[in-house]
Amino acid sequence: MLAAPEARLVPPLIVAEGVTKRFGDVLALDRLSLEIGRGEFVSLLGPSGCGKSTFLRCLVGLDHTTEGVLTVGGQRVTDPPKELGLVLQRDALLEWLDVLDNVLLPAEFAGLRRAALRPKAKELLHMVGLGEFLHAWPAALSGGMRQRVAICRALLLDPPLLLMDEPFGALDALTRDQLNIDLHRIWRERGMTVVFVTHSIPEALFLSTRVAVFSPRPGRIVDDVALDLPRHRRLAVKETPEFAALARRMRGNFEAMGLIRDA
Ligand SMILES: Nc1ncnc2c1ncn2[C@@H]1O[C@H](COP(=O)(O)OP(=O)(O)OP(=O)(O)O)[C@@H](O)[C@H]1O
Ligand SMILES: [Mg+2]
Repeated sequence: MLAAPEARLVPPLIVAEGVTKRFGDVLALDRLSLEIGRGEFVSLLGPSGCGKSTFLRCLVGLDHTTEGVLTVGGQRVTDPPKELGLVLQRDALLEWLDVLDNVLLPAEFAGLRRAALRPKAKELLHMVGLGEFLHAWPAALSGGMRQRVAICRALLLDPPLLLMDEPFGALDALTRDQLNIDLHRIWRERGMTVVFVTHSIPEALFLSTRVAVFSPRPGRIVDDVALDLPRHRRLAVKETPEFAALARRMRGNFEAMGLIRDA
């Protein structure tokens, strides 16, 4: 989809230009180019091992590109940017801290007073339905509850950019649907930019304003689709003809790459 002329005047938040990443002989990313604007919810959809996590790690400065340019907010990524929320596939909660203290962790890293952020942390936990579990230990929570805590932690400092690497991959389908709904509401209310990695076509379509499809390794973008679906998504959107057409297009990409073959 072509951007409106005025939209082109606003510089994108994230720019990847010809990004290549090698691990020794393994070429993980091959001249990948992608621009992401402020406020977009972009899913990176692609097969296992195609370089999605590698791209995200480079984006947050946990790894470096071999070639190419990667900027966030106009700055070359060198160190992990401060104003960033990160949620990974495994929730990385600290087992020796209770739920509230886990959510407050970014305050310490940012050198802020925890006490000042306690009301905010509580509000976030209430928002995701964990108001009764402020002082529970992580070990006493289900996988979906733990992932909610991880999302609250990522949102504590209101980062303008939230990066999520298959955050719901390990959850059952019902919990995943609920967290998709919750995350989408949070995005609608807060308007941050989200980059979301997933293998799931329905998840990518339900959540995103745009889906970028990765090729198998070496990763590059083979399809980039702006989704013309209502901004306020309800689960029923999955039963609409528009959603089905988009899902067919995504499946077509994977069939063309030889990754799925219909019976
Ligand atoms: N630190 C590393 N050292 C060597 N090779 C690596 C390293 N990290 C990733 N790779 C390789 O780079 C390729 C891309 O890996 P990556 O983890 O980015 O894939 P992915 O798309 O996130 O896969 P998945 O969906 O399974 O998480 C793989 O072939 C992997 O073996
Ligand atoms: Mg990965």
